[in-house]
Amino acid sequence: MCVMFLPKTWSLIDLLFMRDFNTVGPVRLEDHYYVPPLDRVNLSEVLSLERSKRYFVLHAPRQTGKTSALLALRDLLNGGSVGNYRCGYINIEIAETARENIGQAMGAIASEIAREARNTLRDVATARMADQFDASIRPHAALGTLLDVWAHAESSPLVLLIDKIDAMVGDSLVSVLRQLRAGYAHRPSGFPKSVVLCGVRDVRDYRIHASSAKEVIMGEVSSMSRLSRYA
Ligand SMILES: Nc1ncnc2c1ncn2[C@@H]1O[C@H](COP(=O)(O)OP(=O)(O)O)[C@@H](O)[C@H]1O
Ligand SMILES: [Mg+2]
Repeated sequence: MCVMFLPKTWSLIDLLFMRDFNTVGPVRLEDHYYVPPLDRVNLSEVLSLERSKRYFVLHAPRQTGKTSALLALRDLLNGGSVGNYRCGYINIEIAETARENIGQAMGAIASEIAREARNTLRDVATARMADQFDASIRPHAALGTLLDVWAHAESSPLVLLIDKIDAMVGDSLVSVLRQLRAGYAHRPSGFPKSVVLCGVRDVRDYRIHASSAKEVIMGEVSSMSRLSRYA
């Protein structure tokens, strides 16, 4: 009977599972009160861009639910209800401290790929390869090589969600964008079918000061579309 006196939005499930209000990091649907994370993006447009093999940007200010939406999108795509996809999410902010050391930055990204392949997609072969990968040998091709291996690991197309892309700087960021662009022509069987670059800023717009080039370089990836309901 006491349930009758609970606020209208509370349910017996909330009580049983002891959800609480999250203020730190992305929402976990099993632990927190939430609004459905994918209600906060234009889902039909996102899915349409993915179906048409696009590489695109999702950007919005901090603390607006970007990471929560990406994780929900990953689960949706891996769930099979919207098509036959494999979807991996990597957060590449750990590459920030590598600054413009491309080998170290690619090594950090490789470790994120290994974790995601192992934990989410149960792809042990890709995880082992990424774990053992020496990104310092050919740093300018390292990410492309890893994504090639990952895409080929199974026949279902791979969708890659890259979070915190704008944590990277200078040559390291340019290298990530260039390697994505170089692999773009090989999608969907030999490279991710679709890539989402997520961050606070639109990577197409900002000018990247790379110390090696001594000039301003424009960061862009082929066929990207601005896509956000947040901004
Ligand atoms: N779907 C949601 N429902 C309720 N609160 C949310 C939701 N998405 C985000 N939040 C709130 O915003 C905070 C930041 O979420 P997060 O996904 O990490 O945002 P961002 O990646 O944009 O910084 C969370 O700690 C939570 O308080
Ligand atoms: Mg985030």
